[in-house]
Amino acid sequence: MKKYNWAILGCGHISKKFSNDLKLLPNANLYAAASRDWQKANDFKNEYGFEVAYGSYTEMVNDPNVDVVYIATPHSFHHDHAILCLKNKKAVLCEKAFAINKNEAAEMIAFAKENNTFLMEAFWTMFQPSFNKAMEILKSGELGKLQIVRSDFAFNAPFIEEKRLYNINLGGGSLLDIGIYPVFAALTSLGKPKIIKTFAHFSATGTEESISIIFKYAGGEMANLTSSFAAHSPVQTEYWCENGYMILNPRWFMPTKITVVKHGQEPQHFNSGHTEGTGYHYEAAHVMKCLDEGKIESEIMTWQKSLDLMELLDRIRIDAGIFFPEHDEKMFF
Ligand SMILES: NC(=O)c1ccc[n+]([C@@H]2O[C@H](COP(=O)([O-])OP(=O)(O)OC[C@H]3O[C@@H](n4cnc5c(N)ncnc54)[C@H](OP(=O)(O)O)[C@@H]3O)[C@@H](O)[C@H]2O)c1
Repeated sequence: MKKYNWAILGCGHISKKFSNDLKLLPNANLYAAASRDWQKANDFKNEYGFEVAYGSYTEMVNDPNVDVVYIATPHSFHHDHAILCLKNKKAVLCEKAFAINKNEAAEMIAFAKENNTFLMEAFWTMFQPSFNKAMEILKSGELGKLQIVRSDFAFNAPFIEEKRLYNINLGGGSLLDIGIYPVFAALTSLGKPKIIKTFAHFSATGTEESISIIFKYAGGEMANLTSSFAAHSPVQTEYWCENGYMILNPRWFMPTKITVVKHGQEPQHFNSGHTEGTGYHYEAAHVMKCLDEGKIESEIMTWQKSLDLMELLDRIRIDAGIFFPEHDEKMFF
């Protein structure tokens, strides 16, 4: 069994959870922690059991021992940091939102191809046993045709101007941070919509704070999607079908329970089979499987899926008037 040396690029909130899950994988070696601040990298290294600490991202990508990099910086840096890694032939698992817009995502993919190096968006829901079980149930047809998707993700985030969530230069706003999950729920079940309508409310820094999105499809199907930093929501996804409905229970995008209610019958409950960790190890295990097989693209979280998701986010942003001035010059495709 080949062991892969993982490096963390950006020692923030999510890197901590990811690193804990990485420890569950026998073929993952927690090798390097890279931060803009050496002391922070060294503290992270010691707390999570990495071998080396780097005080700059560039130093880390120049280390020949690094095999694969987990990028967990604000969305506004994903494009540049992915390209930095790919140019140095480091495999990349890059957090969502994959980029700020579709053009940036396409450039990242072009660099992966040019450098013959693995690149995947860290859309962990795609690898969750519960999400995959729900997709199986939908595809089986036992609930009949899917007509409506209703999905939400909201939490009350304190307004701190300079922090990532409310900082327009860091890709702030609920849509790219958490609204991306309801959009993903619609995309993975109903596909790309014909019509998108939105309402958005903006914070004092000009970032979008709350957004309601309606998708309408050619066959009359609809999706009703919401995200917000102003309130707490159930964090649930429902699939309404001709013969009943299915609920991906809170928090629907990670390991969770599924409830299936066939019209007029008692609810049936399914457990995910998930036993340990938060659920980030599924995507990390998949990355290493791809590397074992010499792949540069995942057959599950494909580049096309990331492009489709970015395209939908771009279309939503255009309708809602959400722009990122430092990035959107080349947004329109
Ligand atoms: N999959 C999930 O469940 C999940 C959950 C949360 C977040 N995320 C995604 O992960 C990414 C990071 O989110 P997070 O919540 O971990 O963010 P965070 O705690 O704010 O950390 C981001 C890290 O990025 C680095 N960074 C580089 N340049 C920066 C700058 N100019 N300002 C601030 N930080 C900068 C910092 O690391 P150094 O100081 O060490 O350089 C910082 O600790 C986002 O894209 C987010 O959407 C995913």
